[in-house]
Amino acid sequence: MRLHDAKKKLLFICLCICLTLTLIACGKKQGDANNTGTVNNDVTQAITDASNEATDKTGEGDDATKAEPTPEPVKESKAYMQKYQETGELPSLKEIYKDRFYVGVALANIDYIEDKTKLVASQFSSITCENEMKPDFILDRAQSVRNGDELCPAINMRNAEVALKFAKENGIKMRFHTLVWHAQTPKWFFTEGYSTSPDAPYVTREVMLARMENYIRQVMEYMDTNYPGIIYAWDVVNEAIAGSERPDGIRVNDNLWYDVVGPDYVEMAFSFAAKYVGEGQKLFYNDYGTYDKTKLFHVRNLVERMKAANIRIDGIGMQDHVGLTSPSILDYQYAINKYAEMGLEIQVTELDVGTSDNSEEGQKALGSRYKALFTIINDAIDRGKANISSVTFWGLSDDRSWLNKADQPSYPLLFDRDLNPKPAYFGVAMDDSISIVNK
Ligand code: GLA
Repeated sequence: MRLHDAKKKLLFICLCICLTLTLIACGKKQGDANNTGTVNNDVTQAITDASNEATDKTGEGDDATKAEPTPEPVKESKAYMQKYQETGELPSLKEIYKDRFYVGVALANIDYIEDKTKLVASQFSSITCENEMKPDFILDRAQSVRNGDELCPAINMRNAEVALKFAKENGIKMRFHTLVWHAQTPKWFFTEGYSTSPDAPYVTREVMLARMENYIRQVMEYMDTNYPGIIYAWDVVNEAIAGSERPDGIRVNDNLWYDVVGPDYVEMAFSFAAKYVGEGQKLFYNDYGTYDKTKLFHVRNLVERMKAANIRIDGIGMQDHVGLTSPSILDYQYAINKYAEMGLEIQVTELDVGTSDNSEEGQKALGSRYKALFTIINDAIDRGKANISSVTFWGLSDDRSWLNKADQPSYPLLFDRDLNPKPAYFGVAMDDSISIVNK
C-alpha cells in the first residue's frame, strides 16, 4: 500500500512538472508572437490567426483552449462569394479598401469598352496606363524635328487622353507610369537632331540632361494644367537596377540613359521631378523583383545615396509580377518591412500572379495566393508597420494579360475572359471562403 501511495505521489509530481514546463513554453510562444520586431513572427501571427479561425469554425479546439479562450478581435464576416452566388451582387474592392489604399488597375486604350469601364468604375479607385504614358507614346518626333530645339523635345499626350478623360469623369485617380525607363523609349530621343539614322551620334550628357528635364517638366505641367488632381503618384524611374556589372547595381546593358547620361541618371531624374511635381503628388522608384535580396540591397543603397544628397524620393513601387509560390510570403513581408523602415511609402504597382492552370483547383490556388498576399499587406498596415497607399493589378481580366503567350494562355487576374469574378477576386476581398493556405 505504502509503495502504491509513493508511486501515486511520484506520478503527481511528474504531472505538475510537465504542466509547469508546458505553461512556460506557451508563455514564451505568446511572448514571441507579440514581438512584432521579426518577420517570422509577423507571418506566424497572421497565419496563426487564420488557423485559429479555421479551428473555431470546426469547433475542434481542445479543452485547455476552451478553459482560457484568447480574446479575438471582432471580425466582420466576409461572405462575399456566397452572396454573389445567391444574388449576383458583388462588393466593391475600392469600398472595401477605401480607408487603406487605392485599388488600381492597368488598362490600355482598347480596354475602354462599355462592360469593362462599368466594372472598372465600380471596383477601382485608381488607373495606370498600361502603355500610353510611356515615353514611346508621349514623345513626338515629327514635332521635335520641326521645332529644331536640341534641348527640348516635343510631347503629345493624345494617347493618354482616353484614360485621363475617363478618370476625370469617374472620380478616379491615376498613377503616372513612367517618366524615365530604358525600355519603350525611342532611340532618337538620345541622338543629335533627333535622328533615326542607325549611325546617328548620341548627344552629350549636358544636352541629354536638358532633354530629360524638359521632358519631365512638360509632362508634369500638362497634367497639372489639364487634369489637376488626377495624378497622385509618379513612377519617376522604372527598373534602373539590374545585373551585377556595377557595384551599385545600376543597369548597364541596353540602357541608353546609362550610356548617354551615366549612372546618376536616376538621381538626376528625381531632382528634376522634385522641381516640377504638383502638390500632394508623390515620387516613386518602381522596379520588379523588389523582394529579391540583391535588388533590395541596391534599392536601399540608392535611396540612402539620394537622401544623403538631399534628393527627394517618396516611395518604392513594388511591381509584384509574382508566381503562385515565389516569392515566399516571408520574403514578401520582409521586403515590405525593410522598405517601410527606410521611411518609404509603398505602392504595389503591377500585381499579377502568373498561372496557366485554369482548372477549378488551379484557380482556387490562385485565390489562396492572392489572399495570402493581401493578408501580409493588410497585416503590415494594421500593425502600423508600413504605409501602403496603393495596390494596382496589372490588367482587369485574363483576356488582356501581358502574360498571355500565343501558345500558352495565362489566367492570372481577378476577372475571367467574360468579366466574371474569380476566386482570385474573392481572395483579394479577404472572403471567408478562401483559405490562405492552398489545401
Ligand atoms: C514592366 C513594366 C510595365 C509593363 C510590364 C509588362 O513591369 O514596368 O510597364 O511593361 O513590364 O507588361
